[in-house]
Amino acid sequence: MEIKEKKVVVTGAAGFIGSNLTDFLLEQGAEVIGIDNFFNGRIENLTEAFKNDKFEFLKGDIRDLTFLLDVFEDVDIVYHQAAFTSVPQSIKMPENCNNVNVNGVLNVLNAARRMDVEKIIYASSSSVYGDTPTLPKREEMCRLPISPYGVTKLACEAYMQAYHQVYGLKTTSLRYFNVFGPRQKDSTYSGVIAIWLGHIIKNEELTINGDGKISRDFTYIKDVVQANILAAKHDVAGEIFNIGAGSPISLTDLAKLMLKLSNKNNLKIVYSVPRPGDILHSYADISKAKRLLKFEPRYNQEQGLLEYFKWYNETYGANLNL
Ligand SMILES: NC(=O)c1ccc[n+]([C@@H]2O[C@H](COP(=O)([O-])OP(=O)(O)OC[C@H]3O[C@@H](n4cnc5c(N)ncnc54)[C@H](O)[C@@H]3O)[C@@H](O)[C@H]2O)c1
Repeated sequence: MEIKEKKVVVTGAAGFIGSNLTDFLLEQGAEVIGIDNFFNGRIENLTEAFKNDKFEFLKGDIRDLTFLLDVFEDVDIVYHQAAFTSVPQSIKMPENCNNVNVNGVLNVLNAARRMDVEKIIYASSSSVYGDTPTLPKREEMCRLPISPYGVTKLACEAYMQAYHQVYGLKTTSLRYFNVFGPRQKDSTYSGVIAIWLGHIIKNEELTINGDGKISRDFTYIKDVVQANILAAKHDVAGEIFNIGAGSPISLTDLAKLMLKLSNKNNLKIVYSVPRPGDILHSYADISKAKRLLKFEPRYNQEQGLLEYFKWYNETYGANLNL
């Protein structure tokens, strides 16, 4: 299915990934309805989108089925990005996390079924794997999430597959591995790159939770957007795909790389206690996405970081000396 001329809904459109996806879909000629309740999203993330006649924004909550039924009328594709997205916050508020993520997904699926939506593409997460030792992570291996957030993402993938099996809905889950890039903000709901960037700009030391040996497969936002477009284009359904860069880096090496690229080698790296719920290593085997979606990551971590830093300088007049 080509995106051009399609009517698409992006849930969580005011968030980091949702807003980047929205902009790209509009560039491709799709008609986009963005929805968000601003729990963590920001209206300024939609500044570009509002310049386009084919964009409409509706403030609303994915826990509201009536709202979704209205929004999904005549819609071809739903990109479901809205979620309670923080692992540490999910440990503090597991019920809230479950409510938004699992009940929200059920609403999205039920509304999509009733309104005959053609495809649903779901933002899942590498957190479903938990701390299983085998690397790289392959889609079919054992999933043992260790945080309430990871549990909800696994439950939602299972709902996606079940709704394909029993109702024939065309669902696809994309398991994102630590995404970073423009519009990711420095907050309790953010990933480590955005948090450290905030510290670098303020000339503050970088704190690593744990011994710095834990590693992640940081994936640049443009590659995640690309994967979403490919998931709509290819005739796949009821499937789950890892979406990562396929090249892990330890947190110590990442901190050093960020300091080097921003010319802030004078800032210290300090080590603190590990965070509960954090897995040790995460690294994606992306061969299934390469084979069935023709997905090819185009950014390594250094290229992605440089583009992100440049955007930060241009947008906030930051002092990153690149
Ligand atoms: N960023 C990552 O590294 C990463 C990794 C794996 C998976 N994901 C998944 O990708 C998706 C997007 O993540 P993100 O990083 O852009 O996070 P984000 O927090 O920036 O975006 C999520 C958006 O959902 C909105 N939202 C939350 N609850 C809502 C509700 N009840 N109704 C309507 N909108 C609601 C928020 O306001 C926010 O704008 C999420 O599903 C997340 O779990 C992200």
